[in-house]
Amino acid sequence: MPETTTATAPTRVAHHRRYLMCRPEHFTVSYKINPWMEPAKPTDTAKALEQWQKLYDLYIELGHEVELIEPLAGYPDMVYTANGGFVIDGRAYVPEFYFEQRQGEAPAFAEWFRANGFDTVLPQEVNEGEGDFLLAGDVILAGTGFRSAGDSHREVHEVFGREVVTLTLVDPRFYHLDTALTVLDPVVGHENGGPERANIAYLPGAFDEASQRILAERFPDAILVADEDGAVFGLNSASDGYNVIISPRAKGFEKQLRERGYNPLTVDLSELLLGGGGIKCCTLELRGAKTDGES
Ligand code: ARG
Repeated sequence: MPETTTATAPTRVAHHRRYLMCRPEHFTVSYKINPWMEPAKPTDTAKALEQWQKLYDLYIELGHEVELIEPLAGYPDMVYTANGGFVIDGRAYVPEFYFEQRQGEAPAFAEWFRANGFDTVLPQEVNEGEGDFLLAGDVILAGTGFRSAGDSHREVHEVFGREVVTLTLVDPRFYHLDTALTVLDPVVGHENGGPERANIAYLPGAFDEASQRILAERFPDAILVADEDGAVFGLNSASDGYNVIISPRAKGFEKQLRERGYNPLTVDLSELLLGGGGIKCCTLELRGAKTDGES
């Protein structure tokens, strides 16, 4: 796996990842559940498929494993598999979608987890999976304010027995945590023998003041992303610890990543942005169970 070292940036190591994705065969924007969606504006499903395929191919090229879930007709948002669950150590916490339009996706994801050997936990509380829960080192960062209910943060703590840090989102454009914050290398502390602190990047203005303070205290070395990069979904990215796949429009973030020793790679998902989703939204990390392994 590739590594890089510069005079100032630490060594970054790419890790094997296993992801769940869903081909956008039924992608369109037929309802509006976030500010990005404009049902009156035409969408191009073929273009969505083409762009999505580039992301899929890049993951494979980087040596990652990608599992696929069958897209359901009538569920155009199913391509955003990040909302399909939250998975750690072979245990999958199933979503309970906030909006009725997506509720029918949850049983399909639950069934997929069961069929693929995951310990599948059905939720009591409204939550939208890895859209609002991000594993940063040993800690779960949990978003609320628009979709996942505060009570799901308690539930996710009970399910995984890990510390959960609640972060409140305040800008409707950044309605899921993964639109405002990205984890760059969740296991950095263990490997480098340093403090157990994951590197993250985030858009401060997407959070309320209390959450901004928590983030500043816990992650003093975080990359703070500029508003213009946040506004093009720059933070909706996927990292393997070295390669970070981002939107080609997030120019400033690309530079910041390079300065820190990461290898930014760009994939344009402009068509899927019409549904209010980007790279991370189309990617659910499968941690643990069967074929998982670090490289
Ligand atoms: N149209 C979808 C929704 O509003 C987009 C979901 C984006 N997913 C994400 N993980 N941010 O639910």
